[in-house]
Amino acid sequence: MCGIFGITTNQNKPVGKIALEAIKRLEYRGYDSCGIVTQYESQLLVKKDAGKIEEINQRIKLDDFPNGSRLALAHTRWATHGPPTKINSHPHLDCDDKIAVIHNGILENFIELKEEMLSKGHVFKSETDTEIIPHLIEENLKKNVDLKDAVVNAVKKCKGAYGLAICHADYPDTIIAVRRESPLIVGIEEGKTTYCASDIPAFLPYTRNCYILEDDEIAILKAGTVEFYDVYNSNFPKKKDLHHVEWSMDAAEKGGYEHFMLKEIYEEPDALRRTLKVTNDSLKDFAKSLLSAENIYITAAGTSFYAALAGKFIITKFLGKYIQAIECSEFKTELINSLEKDSVIIAISQSGETIDLIEAIRWAKDYQASVKILSITNIVGSSITRHSDKILITQAGPEIGVAATKTFVTQVLIQSLVALEIAKLRKIESQNEIQKYYDALHSIPEVIERFLTKSVDLIKYIVRNLEKNLNFFFLARGISIATAKEGGLKLKEVACRFIEGYSAAHAKHGPISLVREGYPIIFIAPPDETYERLVGNLMEFKSRGGKIISLVVEDDKKIGDLSDITIRIPQPGDKYHSLFSPITFVPALQLLAYYAALEHNLDPDKPLNLAKTVTVH
Ligand code: M6R
Repeated sequence: MCGIFGITTNQNKPVGKIALEAIKRLEYRGYDSCGIVTQYESQLLVKKDAGKIEEINQRIKLDDFPNGSRLALAHTRWATHGPPTKINSHPHLDCDDKIAVIHNGILENFIELKEEMLSKGHVFKSETDTEIIPHLIEENLKKNVDLKDAVVNAVKKCKGAYGLAICHADYPDTIIAVRRESPLIVGIEEGKTTYCASDIPAFLPYTRNCYILEDDEIAILKAGTVEFYDVYNSNFPKKKDLHHVEWSMDAAEKGGYEHFMLKEIYEEPDALRRTLKVTNDSLKDFAKSLLSAENIYITAAGTSFYAALAGKFIITKFLGKYIQAIECSEFKTELINSLEKDSVIIAISQSGETIDLIEAIRWAKDYQASVKILSITNIVGSSITRHSDKILITQAGPEIGVAATKTFVTQVLIQSLVALEIAKLRKIESQNEIQKYYDALHSIPEVIERFLTKSVDLIKYIVRNLEKNLNFFFLARGISIATAKEGGLKLKEVACRFIEGYSAAHAKHGPISLVREGYPIIFIAPPDETYERLVGNLMEFKSRGGKIISLVVEDDKKIGDLSDITIRIPQPGDKYHSLFSPITFVPALQLLAYYAALEHNLDPDKPLNLAKTVTVH
């Protein structure tokens, strides 16, 4: 959950400055401390401290290194072992300050390894698991092996997850990068500069050509070149495919918006347009696997799980089979006695790196080899894709804000496209009818655009209105429970308010006792088959003094009229559009959370204690 970056160059480039800018672009991965190391005249020069990158930079000029320096490593941390302090921030060095290591992941056996190193006389400065690595390498180098083998032998002793970048004071242009379970990408400007990073945006201003490191691969980076080896067969270099990234730099930068979260909400229409172009063949492939499956599960974490709840609803409508949704952290516990061999698992993850999800699908494959994994992710080459039989890539583009926004809407959209492929294959609806659902899907980008253009002032007004309420509900029925839950998650995450998304029917069985005069309740009310019942629920809350805010379609009458404040989504009130309402309704709740964060002076891009990619259990 940390961000790592490395650069080695033969050009006259300000490596400290480039490293600093790179970790700023990775700050969404963790932001409680950071550090940079450069190599200069056979010495390692380190600057690091606790705090956000910009604050630290103001204090100690993180990028101020000698001109002749041609190599740098940089790290932005999300603390796991040891609190966010200067000592615990990366890089970590060996006893002689010759070897520097930055790390993303968790080493599970670091206590045993630390005891072993302590018994050999090594001195540790931090409480981190990472510091074991420079000492292991230092120990190996005493045996007269070269730097690559010293690293190989070190990581072979480690259990757990790591993306590591390593440099040595006596190797002026060499960075060693190695990974297991934590992402690591190598970017290259042939003959000039080589980069490594935990995410592509870190080096995107300089190159779009990159290699994606797989588990147990090691890369030797020199200025403008790179060689790859397997950790468990490290004598011979191996060939890897070069990827060309299509993302534009604009997409990875704020482009005039105050925050990435806001920019990414406004990018939703285009992200959806791109996702609408995903090829029919890959959708059909997915659809066929679901049609032939005996048991189907859908699993994910956080926002992706709520996208899964919405998607399960839409797919089931046309598939006619039950899909069980299970949070990925509970997947094994729930299915350990019952996962059948002909099961199909849909796994959804924006990053493709969420460790609980990777573990769930790995376990499923180990338990029943014939289980099929169909994954949906935003990141080509991410870990999830290596464990999948079929892959669909959402075309959201880079999402930097910690809060998932455009990836949610594209995840629901791509599942909707699979659902319509199923409808075509099963021929349960007429062509004409299916076309109306497609037309509804294709109109969504414009619906969101229109909403974003005309409703911001209303959302800000509601935020000011709710300001004093530390808690309230989003209530809904049917598919909109997914919308309500995602709205609640967004507010918890960025506005630090414990706001729950709840079933309107279920709320009578307890939560209704919270309602007093003026207590706000936001009803999510697309005109679907649950609408009339929801009106009844609304009345129950209204008659107890609840202040009703509703999210409805443009021409809604009943619920709109019963509400104190109404947010209208400019979409037709028919069944074709209503089926996909999580895609058009959630942006309103994202915007609400965004402005609520601002109202409380919180940075929505850097919620407290969070990181975008959760690679620890
Ligand atoms: O990368 P993933 O989609 O697997 O991430 C899952 C969750 O960690 C993620 O959706 C999280 O809940 C978001 N930050 C919420 O906005």
